[in-house]
Amino acid sequence: MNISTQAHALAKDLLNFIDLSPSPWHAVDYIEQQLLNAGFAKLDETQAWQLSTGNRYFVVRGGASIIAFTLGNKPIINTGFRMVGAHTDSPSLRLKPKAAYETDGLLRIGVEVYGGPILATFTDRDLSIAGRVTVRTETGHTIKLLKFDNALMRLPNLAIHMNREVNEKGLKLNKQTELPLLFGESEAGIEADQQFLAYIAEALNIAPQDILTFEFNVFDTQKGAFWGAHQEFITNSQLDNLASCHAAITALLNSTNQETSNICALFDHEEVGSESATGASGSFLSDVINRITSNTGMSEEDRLRALALSFFVSADMAHAYHPNHSGAYEPCHHVMVNQGPVIKTNANQRYASNADTAARFISMCERANVPFQQYAHRTDLGCGSTIGPILASGLGVASVDVGSPMWAMHSIRESAGVLDHHYMIEALKALFNN
Ligand code: CO
Repeated sequence: MNISTQAHALAKDLLNFIDLSPSPWHAVDYIEQQLLNAGFAKLDETQAWQLSTGNRYFVVRGGASIIAFTLGNKPIINTGFRMVGAHTDSPSLRLKPKAAYETDGLLRIGVEVYGGPILATFTDRDLSIAGRVTVRTETGHTIKLLKFDNALMRLPNLAIHMNREVNEKGLKLNKQTELPLLFGESEAGIEADQQFLAYIAEALNIAPQDILTFEFNVFDTQKGAFWGAHQEFITNSQLDNLASCHAAITALLNSTNQETSNICALFDHEEVGSESATGASGSFLSDVINRITSNTGMSEEDRLRALALSFFVSADMAHAYHPNHSGAYEPCHHVMVNQGPVIKTNANQRYASNADTAARFISMCERANVPFQQYAHRTDLGCGSTIGPILASGLGVASVDVGSPMWAMHSIRESAGVLDHHYMIEALKALFNN
């Protein structure tokens, strides 16, 4: 296994990005800083835009969705858009609006299940919370990001002496009664909710009564790591799908192409179905495309001609073959970690790929000199989906679903390959550079 210094550095950069992005709001904030540092101009959806060719821009909607784009020197009507999409959210636990309560002298935190996490993996981890808090101001409110780096909360397992069949039957947790997190010993005479708000307020250096609302994601404070005999694998939370967000943004930032117009669109709410103002089913990407085309003097027909020429790559993680569970996989479609980007195909259009778009992605891989693999799910198992079919149908653009292979999708501690991250970045660069 020959892992280049470059591949190792990119994987390390990814792990660092995830460590600093314990919520989708933090991930978008990090990407925003990266784009600003690289000279991208921030656009505000409430203001008029003045776009010019040769320049680079980004726009954020709702704090957890972001679209970055570059306008090339060639007319968009002749090139279309080259687009990559991914999602910023990951399955997790989210705090309820009045989260804290007290029983038996213990402070407990009520949570909702966000998307489809493997709940058992949240037990016995050094958990904490990160998200955003709305704080009262003279004229309304402002939004502040907040994360606690220390282990704050925990979901201790029930001892095996009270759960004798846990190894035979698996760990089952009732979502209402068995998921609340332990947060500490309650202070006598003070309401639990007040204790919790006081804790948040102290971290923000504000008065508790100035907290209007909050959204908090539960995360694992353990940092990302390399593992394996040759340190050829990586592990962290949220590889699905922050690895694809990182690959897409890294490819865009390192694209040298001045000619074509490229878009990187990262959406919140994929894990809960994408139906929101900021999700892939919403209007965000088509609104941005419409504003680009109208701003650059294109007619409605020009816009439709440009879309007909465009190509969309939906990047989301893929299921790597797990040798301990060989029966879970379709025989001819074992995708292996560190053997390259995976093209995902599903005849029922759970993935957007078809023969033509898959071939286009293969030629991207060939231009980038990286290997590729093909995946199909077992026919007797329900197949997941991505933002690919949603955006393909919404925009009417030729689309392909791809992703890097990974193990333990939706665990709080997922794994993937060092080489695959490098390969994906190179493949996406080939799209942006062509
Ligand atoms: Co995903």
